[in-house]
Amino acid sequence: MSSTLDIDRALEIQQLYEEIRELKRQKNAVILAHYYMSPELQVTHAEGGIADFVGDSLGLSLEATKVTHPNIIFCGVRFMAETAKIVNPEKQVFLPDSEAGCSLAASITPADVRALRQRYPGRPVISYVNTYADVKAESDICCTSRNALRIVESYDQEELIFLPDVYMGANLQRQISEQSSKKLILWNGRCEVHEQFAESLLTKVCAENPEAEVLLHWEVPQPSVEAGLAHNRGVLGSTNDIIRHVGESSAHSFILASECDLGATLKTMYPAKSFITPCIKCPYMKKITLENTKAALLSIGNDGSSASSANYEITLDADIMTRALLPIQRMLSFA
Ligand code: 13P
Ligand code: SF4
Repeated sequence: MSSTLDIDRALEIQQLYEEIRELKRQKNAVILAHYYMSPELQVTHAEGGIADFVGDSLGLSLEATKVTHPNIIFCGVRFMAETAKIVNPEKQVFLPDSEAGCSLAASITPADVRALRQRYPGRPVISYVNTYADVKAESDICCTSRNALRIVESYDQEELIFLPDVYMGANLQRQISEQSSKKLILWNGRCEVHEQFAESLLTKVCAENPEAEVLLHWEVPQPSVEAGLAHNRGVLGSTNDIIRHVGESSAHSFILASECDLGATLKTMYPAKSFITPCIKCPYMKKITLENTKAALLSIGNDGSSASSANYEITLDADIMTRALLPIQRMLSFA
């Protein structure tokens, strides 16, 4: 039975949907949202919500290149909004909370990348898209979780620098080592969400759910990945790989080792299947709310100017944008 609190919030959400839809029209804006957003932010405009597109980081980057509206509200984290700005620089891109960061992106600076290049000359630098624009600008190519393996495999060199996710790097290394002697030089960045899927936790959840398949994001630490894959069939991959696997699998229950709200997304997509997840939420993704999405829209001047939107608008140094574009374009060519 729903509590009064639930009913009150549901009414508030409906009210906010209506206001945001009207503001989108007035300000000529589209909303792009990541699969890790709270469920109410993932309801599309066509379904009565507000998002024009919901996707993983690669899907969102591609969608950003196609936007024709002058304003993009990015319901995701900063590195994603920066990427949208770089691939479509004529548009104004707004992030509803300037504190929506990422522990991986915060783990490395441009000076760190230059030092790696000095220490390992001639090795191509592959940067995960979960980096800020200034780090992308120092890189040869970017990748997302969806195309990282294909990009690593596409290089002929024996040694490659992969940054900044040490766990994802180790998982990729394990996969490529099955076919080649290629070596990845890693940085010590970690996703503070996926690293919480410890081996002991995965082992316990697997033992409690012997029939369930395991859905593991690349960013989960390697011992947990091994424990998960030893338990039952499943998938190690990106958010999109996880969604696709559930659609293709004949299993009825799944253990999700990824962001908690992806579980809600999966349940909406596949209502007949069940998802077990130790609910670990990304604190940065959860900074984005319907309320601050509305505030970001309100900050756009009626003439389309962003005069009062200093707190929301993504602005980047022109030189960094130019230098970051090529590695991002290379990444998009592996879509
Ligand atoms: P995806 O590339 O799978 O969308 O992942 C983004 C992310 O932040 C994972 O933690
Ligand atoms: Fe960054 Fe991890 Fe949050 Fe993704 S889930 S945005 S990698 S901290």
